[in-house]
Amino acid sequence: MRRKMCGIAGYIGDKKAPIILFEMLKRLEYRGYDSAGIACISKGRIIVSKDKGRVDDVRKKINFKKVPASVGIAHNRWATHGIPSHENSHPHQDCSKNFAVVHNGIIENYKDLKEELLQLGHKFRSGTDTEVIPHLIEEFYKEKKNFEYSFVNAIRKLRGSFAIAAISSNESDRILVARKESPLMIGIGKGENFIASDMPAIIPYTRNVIVLDDFDYGILGRDSVQLKDIQTGDELKRDIQRVSWGLEEARKEGYEHFMLKEIFEEPDAVRNALKGADEAERIASKLAEYKRIYLVACGTASYAGMVGRYLLERFGISADAITASEFRYSTINILDEKTAVILISQSGETADTIASAKGAREKGAYLAAVVNVVGSTLTRISDDVIYTYSGPEIAVASTKAYIGQLVSLTLIALFLAMERERITREYTNEILDDLNGIPDKIQSILHEEREIKRLAQRLARKNIFFYIGRRLGYPTALEGALKIKEISYVHAEAYPAGELKHGPLALLEKGVPVIAITPNDDLLEKMESNIEEAKARGATILTVGESGELNVPITDSLLTPITYIVPLHLLAYYISTAKGFDPDKPRNLAKSVTVE
Ligand code: F6R
Repeated sequence: MRRKMCGIAGYIGDKKAPIILFEMLKRLEYRGYDSAGIACISKGRIIVSKDKGRVDDVRKKINFKKVPASVGIAHNRWATHGIPSHENSHPHQDCSKNFAVVHNGIIENYKDLKEELLQLGHKFRSGTDTEVIPHLIEEFYKEKKNFEYSFVNAIRKLRGSFAIAAISSNESDRILVARKESPLMIGIGKGENFIASDMPAIIPYTRNVIVLDDFDYGILGRDSVQLKDIQTGDELKRDIQRVSWGLEEARKEGYEHFMLKEIFEEPDAVRNALKGADEAERIASKLAEYKRIYLVACGTASYAGMVGRYLLERFGISADAITASEFRYSTINILDEKTAVILISQSGETADTIASAKGAREKGAYLAAVVNVVGSTLTRISDDVIYTYSGPEIAVASTKAYIGQLVSLTLIALFLAMERERITREYTNEILDDLNGIPDKIQSILHEEREIKRLAQRLARKNIFFYIGRRLGYPTALEGALKIKEISYVHAEAYPAGELKHGPLALLEKGVPVIAITPNDDLLEKMESNIEEAKARGATILTVGESGELNVPITDSLLTPITYIVPLHLLAYYISTAKGFDPDKPRNLAKSVTVE
């Protein structure tokens, strides 16, 4: 089942809603940029302005003076059900146009609901699953002229996942919201309230936030927020969290792209993740009780999981790293209460990772999560959480969060190995000292930016890349290759260096770049022979190493994944910009993959 990952926003107060809503959408654009739209209540009527395209393009088409409104909802879309088009853009409305709805998620039973509604005479304008919601609300409104009653009864008919916001021209003093499995939060202001899928949209206006739980619905007025349970209708109390992220952190601060800014924040990502040391120690003491450990994640985070596995194996602790989309359907079958699962996710909202966590929970496994986004879904369903504290990551391609994940997992591996008496306290302290020195080492790699940029400009014409590494160098090769694929649209393959001879060597010919991860360890000689094999086929070799073309400072071999990836992040960034692409918004991809 494919899921939409979109951004939703809402405002109720006394300011100009359309302006605020577009500002909020801009900060949610990483969640989808196929279309944008707003619905505001102006002089007792709902006015919808929407279209396909990016937020800025849609905003340009609107004459704000014509929409004097202080209540509204907004949406940007990452298309799945239905092509990007005006009709499929949110907000969606019912037949009477008295209601407007925005939605993130998927309504699994929308076909049945649509069929029922068509038989009742409703007319549909889009190919989306979402459009059933306003029509359902309209239908219930006929029973009892009450917006909340109609909204909650409509929501109760939905199967699937949703974060929903709705307005009604009949009751223009409120926005109704509901959540199940898609993120939604409320920002509490003075005489005004906000809703959004993610913090960056809210923090410019208020730091006081309530994160909705699954099956919560809410009624927002200008001065009030009431929360209730969708199933029982009972009133709920939820804590107001004070968010410490500043808006500056969510802005580019003079960098050309968020991705570049975030790569330059990698030294801080190490410092910040080290703040989780106590939590890592606590988690490690629990992990020590478990026979089997799995590290489960998607994409870049799954490569961090692989590093975790290699580190644990180095210490003689058995562990497996499995991609969440496979884990949830296969490995899950062999889980029991003697299993521990470490889930890794920047967003904490990735569908497959969350499904893996839920499945593992049902089997009685212990769940520890390594997460960046505070209060995200994964943090709520795990037994323990270690935050990476990397700050908001806006670029679609993960960089600094990956570094944070590596540090958190290194801490966990060290403390677990100590707990299991595989290493001594002295040795652990030595490595912790080295870890404290990593930010400066990364900084010195970042100083080579210009050389890396020049190299990238030379490589920008190549359309195939190979990345090879062994052991801890292998996940680095995978991450380097993924990064270049996703933002430069070139074919890049990563292999364990020992695998070259088993097939991929046939693809090597004159000038094909082979990027070799060559830490100065006991496998260096083996890497050198693999490099010779590639050279003999005419490949252009670029090594990442202590005296490589991509230079990294001397580092304890356990920590090389943290430093060796940095030049590869920069290389991918500069190849993308040399080709004229926008690395922050790669085609076909979105930041929060609530997609299966
Ligand atoms: C690649 C990238 C993705 C994410 C993956 C998991 O640069 O960013 O591969 O790593 O979608 O996302 P999170 O970490 O949010 O679970």
